[in-house]
Amino acid sequence: MAVSATKTDVIVIGAGAAGLMCAISAGRRGRRVLLIDHAEKAGKKILISGGGRCNFTNLHTAPDRFISANRHFCISALRRYTQHDFIALVRRHGIAFHEKKLGQLFCDDSARDIVGMLLRECEEAGVTLMLDTTVGRIEKDGGFRVETSGGAFDTESLVIATGGLSIPKMGATGFGYGVAKQFGVEVLPTRAGLVPFTFADADPRNFKDLAGVAFDAEVRCGGASFSEAMLFTHRGLSGPAILQISSYWKDGMPVEIDMLPGAGIEDRLKGLVAERPKAEVKTLLSDLLPRRLALKVTPASFDGRPANRVPEREWQSLTHDLRHWEISPAGTEGYRTAEVTLGGVDTAALSSKTMEARAVPGLYFIGEVVDVTGWLGGYNFQWAWSSGYCAGQFA
Ligand code: FDA
Repeated sequence: MAVSATKTDVIVIGAGAAGLMCAISAGRRGRRVLLIDHAEKAGKKILISGGGRCNFTNLHTAPDRFISANRHFCISALRRYTQHDFIALVRRHGIAFHEKKLGQLFCDDSARDIVGMLLRECEEAGVTLMLDTTVGRIEKDGGFRVETSGGAFDTESLVIATGGLSIPKMGATGFGYGVAKQFGVEVLPTRAGLVPFTFADADPRNFKDLAGVAFDAEVRCGGASFSEAMLFTHRGLSGPAILQISSYWKDGMPVEIDMLPGAGIEDRLKGLVAERPKAEVKTLLSDLLPRRLALKVTPASFDGRPANRVPEREWQSLTHDLRHWEISPAGTEGYRTAEVTLGGVDTAALSSKTMEARAVPGLYFIGEVVDVTGWLGGYNFQWAWSSGYCAGQFA
């Protein structure tokens, strides 16, 4: 005998950033929306994001700050729900915020303000939130039947907003990829992004003795480059510049680090030599780099020689090496600490306007589960808001 099911218009699975926004957007259109999550709280990643202050968007959001097999896919959604739309929402709720740097907007007080705002919006939009609810079988027969620990539901539209694989201990699962596969929607290989690099233990250049040293660098890999702080850790490298470049890195690729970024470094070095001609090279370099790093990277062949006795050719070779310092990470810290998952539901299978699977009417994918990954700095939440809003307009 068929199990009886409650009817609804839209089911959104995953009450994270994208799912909450989608539920609001659909609910505001008068759709009956059921928002389901297996966690006991909505928006758990929002709560821990940005060190508890949630870097909720970036003023400079633009399609070139996103990585995807189809770099044009995100254009439409980012245009239809922009960073300014989200900022206007935040302002309407009286949430104080500030720009920290590079267009990154953070709450003055707490990420809880953003979750509170989204939950209030859900309530006003008449969204029914079901937490602590496990989703079981999903079947399609015209609409969708979704079996859950809270009963079975029939729905016209089903939106998958279950995120990526990063931080499994917070409830991340590959659920969304499974649903995609069940309905024949292609899933591109996934890997951890915005994640620290590790060195092999056996690597003689593993730099463990530099743990804690931070400095500004330009880091390059795979045609991308980022100028920001980087940090040596006990296991490898971290800091914003490294997290950014990690999203462009694949196994075996070298990463190039410019320790003396910016124009005019040769003149600065000449100036230092003129000021202190008898100083050793490593001492002068300590004016430009953290001392522990300067001591480590100055070759022993410079020891005991006054800077003004070092021929031009050797200076050139040293600055070249410091500006093109190449490392080969053994790997990354993986999903355990990654902020995002690269890859995922293939955008080729989705409409960029509605996020609906072209071959499966009524099935939508939004947020991180889709193969669109932003840079560090509020871009990933903006993708969640934009893709969630757009799907909610059609689901
Ligand atoms: P998200 O992961 O937020 O939500 C998915 C939801 O689905 C979760 O609530 C989960 O419980 C639920 N779910 C999963 N499987 C399920 C299943 N089987 N059944 C039911 N529910 C299921 N980005 C940014 O722009 N600014 C920032 O400051 C930060 N900071 C940051 C810090 C840390 C530590 C991390 C790990 C990540 C960030 N990010 C970030 C990235 C950002 O958090 C991420 O890109 C978005 O949360 C993605 O939103 P989604 O809604 O797609 O997934």
